[in-house]
Amino acid sequence: MTYENILREDRDGIAMISVNRPDKLNALNAQTIGELQHAFDELAEDESIAAVILTGTGEKAFVAGADIGELVHQTSITARPLAMKGQRLMDTIESTPKPVVAAVNGFALGGGCELALACHMRFASDNALMGLPEVTLGIIPGYGGTQRLPRIVGKGRAMELILTAKPIDAAEALRIGLVNKVFPQSELMAATEKIVRKVMSAGPVAVRFALDAVNHGTEMPLQDGLNYEATFFGLLAATTDLKEGMGAFLEKRPPKFTGN
Ligand code: COA
Repeated sequence: MTYENILREDRDGIAMISVNRPDKLNALNAQTIGELQHAFDELAEDESIAAVILTGTGEKAFVAGADIGELVHQTSITARPLAMKGQRLMDTIESTPKPVVAAVNGFALGGGCELALACHMRFASDNALMGLPEVTLGIIPGYGGTQRLPRIVGKGRAMELILTAKPIDAAEALRIGLVNKVFPQSELMAATEKIVRKVMSAGPVAVRFALDAVNHGTEMPLQDGLNYEATFFGLLAATTDLKEGMGAFLEKRPPKFTGN
């Protein structure tokens, strides 16, 4: 598939995906959602890729929201399927079996904030501005924001962000746990890549199971989640990666994981 609104650049096992509509501050129109869906469906299966960094083109915006020019034409018949389409993309990103990290390089509003919320970690530039302003447009977040935001920052803070619609700066996003770290804008991509490469140096099967245990285990009752965790723990005992990781530690050498 040829993409018009996103870019993909592969760099030594990392796929850099950029939403590429800078003249519209990378707003998510239906076509862009479709292209991202296609890209993430492929990335999940692509054995040459161990991690994904998602960002926006330009220095101003990660993604400034769903495309309001399209939203204004929605009807009560078309809006629900549109929300489902956006939600499907966010679910796909969240359940990608390799780390997906958002490099939030500016505005991350509405659907842009929801896109970042679906990623496994969020690193932001110091000029980032994040929020869910939908109620000021007479709608509510429809790409998972009402569900993922409270799971990440707690119900009270999520209510405040959604009801007041007031975006927060990078420092506040860091304070409430909406982003993991903040970097000067010029350093964001390099710093994000460095953290991602650190994750990639670990056992790939362990990373994959850890993602699954956190993603799915936290949606279960505690005892079921613990059981789920223990099952993965048991499965890992059968991997050569476990023998390699522990052997390397005991032999005081770096591990060479094979993902088996
Ligand atoms: N949907 C469609 N177009 C958008 C957009 C969005 N969510 N966000 C920005 N754009 C477009 C603008 O319409 C403008 O296009 P134009 O040059 O053809 O008029 C272009 O991107 C640049 O935006 P502009 O508003 O001129 O930039 P700014 O720096 O003055 O303001 C924002 C930046 C982010 C504060 C402002 O664009 C904004 O409020 N956007 C909407 C944010 C929002 O409500 N998102 C949630 C949607 S559900």
